[in-house]
Amino acid sequence: MIGETSSLAGQTVLLKGWVNARRDMGKVCFIDLRDRTGILQVVLVPSVLGEEGKELMKGLRSEYVLAIEGEIKDRDAKSINENIPTGKIEMLATKITILNAAKTPPFELDKDTRGINEEVRLKYRYLDLRTERMQKNIRLRDRVMQHSRQFLAKEGFTEIETPMLTKGTPEGSREFIVPSRLHPENFYVLPQSPQQFKQLLMVAGVERYFQFARCLRDEDQRGDRQPEFTQCDLEMSFVEREDVMDLVERLMTDMVKTVTPEKVIAQTPFPVMTYKEAMEKYGSDKPDLRKDKNDPNEMAFCWVVDFPMFETLDDGSVQAMHHPFCSVNPEDREKLMSGNDMMSIRANAYDLVCNGYEIWGGSIRIHERDVQNRIFELLGLSPEEIQTKFGHMLEAFEFGAPPHGGIASGFDRVMMILCNEPNIREVIAFPKTGDARDLLMNAPSPLPKKSLDEANIQVKK
Ligand code: AMO
Repeated sequence: MIGETSSLAGQTVLLKGWVNARRDMGKVCFIDLRDRTGILQVVLVPSVLGEEGKELMKGLRSEYVLAIEGEIKDRDAKSINENIPTGKIEMLATKITILNAAKTPPFELDKDTRGINEEVRLKYRYLDLRTERMQKNIRLRDRVMQHSRQFLAKEGFTEIETPMLTKGTPEGSREFIVPSRLHPENFYVLPQSPQQFKQLLMVAGVERYFQFARCLRDEDQRGDRQPEFTQCDLEMSFVEREDVMDLVERLMTDMVKTVTPEKVIAQTPFPVMTYKEAMEKYGSDKPDLRKDKNDPNEMAFCWVVDFPMFETLDDGSVQAMHHPFCSVNPEDREKLMSGNDMMSIRANAYDLVCNGYEIWGGSIRIHERDVQNRIFELLGLSPEEIQTKFGHMLEAFEFGAPPHGGIASGFDRVMMILCNEPNIREVIAFPKTGDARDLLMNAPSPLPKKSLDEANIQVKK
């Protein structure tokens, strides 16, 4: 591997990788060979390569895939390059094999692709991902994920997967629906989050659950939103809101210290403010508290708590601001049960904000059937609707449901901040466009009539 070559001066090695760049100097030719561990300068000298090698050398282009055998040598003092880890050495090639040729890529891969048309980058995402910045982003994403997994395992959490084909869970967005072939006129709904399953796992006695969960929401796109995104989702039994907040604060602090030590957390413990204070003081429930907004390494976290339980939509209907499973501030329980002054009821909910983005959101939940039923009533659901939509939750609460609460991060948003990127598409390997298309696979796309018939779908023209 190229990353190991610095200590191999004097040895003959075989390397495999891509031509990152080629520089022809007349008598000799240099190529930068790239693999996942770095870039190495390879010197091609016709007299060393022999007749066959000389021919091959002429045909080499950017992004060709090569196997090169040669000797690692120290560079002359004047050609040392301090900017790359292998800058003190180079390889003198003795044998080249072309493993595969490459067409000229639609954009240059040895340069940052930020300025390239995004539609082109997304169509050729497998090429965009070869570039240095994108490689860094996807590998950092992996390291942060591994860090969270290890951290949570040490804290006694168990990772459990929950279904994708399920019934809707109300998180306030439109849902993606999947028709059932075996049960005509019936549908699955893809999960907006594992909310109900993770609460049921608390009833199941798991006590500490987490999951890197894919969430699907059919909503209008923005820079910090995708129709398909990832949460680090967790739930705990026998906890108060301070316990959940403390866990996440320790997780985030340890993550920044371990994985991105160049970042500076503006204030610890993270400041806490109520929703009312945030709105009055900053006019936003996700205030950006950075002292220097141009400093790419500053991370200014703050907790926002005491969100209103309910909000009124434009059509006058009332909806739960976070979701209907949040418990309410004990001081407001009376209002909840009587239904008086319901818009002033505070949810036992909390968000973690960083640099103006909501990056985690959660709440202490309801674990009593009567209280949960009351919330559904206040949301205007009839007893029949409550039974069909949420009967399974109400029933589960009757079998010794422990007090519980949890939280979930927008993992892509966390990565966007850690990678200093302006939108979450830069930290997702295969994201969708702003209007929810996958340009690489070309989705969504029409289906043949046979597939539609099998799925019992008749398309409205
Ligand atoms: P919530 O809906 O607040 O809570 O989501 C949690 C976090 O997920 C991120 N997020 C998104 N990221 C990218 N694209 C999207 N479309 C998108 N929507 C949300 C945000 C947000 O803070 N089940 C609850 C969590 C809980 O109560 O435990 C939930 O999903 O960063």
